[in-house]
Amino acid sequence: MTRSSAPGKVYLFGEHAVVYGEPAVPCAIERRARVGVERRSDATLRVHSDELSLDGFTVEYSGSTAGTPDIDADESLVNAAMGYVDEAIAQVREVAGETDAGFDVTIESDIPLGAGLGSSAAVVVAAIDAATRALGVELEPAELAERAYRTELAVQDGQASRADTFCSATGGAVRVEGDDCRSIEAPDLPFVIGFDGGAGDTGALVSGVRSLRDEYDFAADTIGSIGDLVRRGETVLEAGELDELGDLMDFNHGLLAALGVSSRSLDNMVWAARTAGAHGAKLTGAGGGGCIVALDPTPETETALRYLPGCESVFRAELAEDGVRRLE
Ligand code: MEV
Repeated sequence: MTRSSAPGKVYLFGEHAVVYGEPAVPCAIERRARVGVERRSDATLRVHSDELSLDGFTVEYSGSTAGTPDIDADESLVNAAMGYVDEAIAQVREVAGETDAGFDVTIESDIPLGAGLGSSAAVVVAAIDAATRALGVELEPAELAERAYRTELAVQDGQASRADTFCSATGGAVRVEGDDCRSIEAPDLPFVIGFDGGAGDTGALVSGVRSLRDEYDFAADTIGSIGDLVRRGETVLEAGELDELGDLMDFNHGLLAALGVSSRSLDNMVWAARTAGAHGAKLTGAGGGGCIVALDPTPETETALRYLPGCESVFRAELAEDGVRRLE
């Protein structure tokens, strides 16, 4: 058995705009997906998970995910999860040159699915790392990030940036602009995360932003403004000025809302955090539902979110210094 883990992430700035070549700054957080892989003697892929924020599913298939597993969970989430695992294994087979390799894959994750915390990237990175090692191949982080990116690209109909997968593979705070991905220094940031219990469909949300951008010049300008904001945010991050970082997060949330990717519950959580005195707050990830991230070193935002109807859970998140970890 080989086993790897990889972290989830929050976006300090820049989601969605990063798809169009603008810079973004995601930060890996200490919430992980762990994937165990055992090579099989046949070409079958068997996936088991009790902890993908689903009620537990096991599915066995030898070709693709064509047959949907019969489980009590939102079908689109299960299909999405299965699509990512399926494509990750296709990448593994290709990189190892073993087209017929079969695997038993076990996934555990403390990152809610589709909630903006990079669950799919973490599962994909950990799965590719564990499965390649099961075939005797060790990928460097850059190659691992590349294969994970190709997985997301295939599953999301060619609409994905390198941000989530690079951040999960390497850990820490990163800056991504097109193909240029690098680690950056970041101070200890007091992240508070609020989760509404829901999820967004990344592919549909990314497509929605693309339609707006194609239709309206001012939507394209909004995407450009997010890029300007991120460039400013990088300087502020270096200086560790939490007040201005927070202001920029507030601004970034407004621009994302203008692009149609916020929701009532995300807005409610953002406003609850701001009212509680957070330096700033914004949705994180694709949006539509899921998580917000706020900056607050005091307990006030956590308390406010805990009592907010519609906020299902709230927690602090530490920056994850490590990306992928080899556990076995
Ligand atoms: C999703 O976590 C982040 C998006 O920017 C899509 C992507 O970068 O691939 C919305």
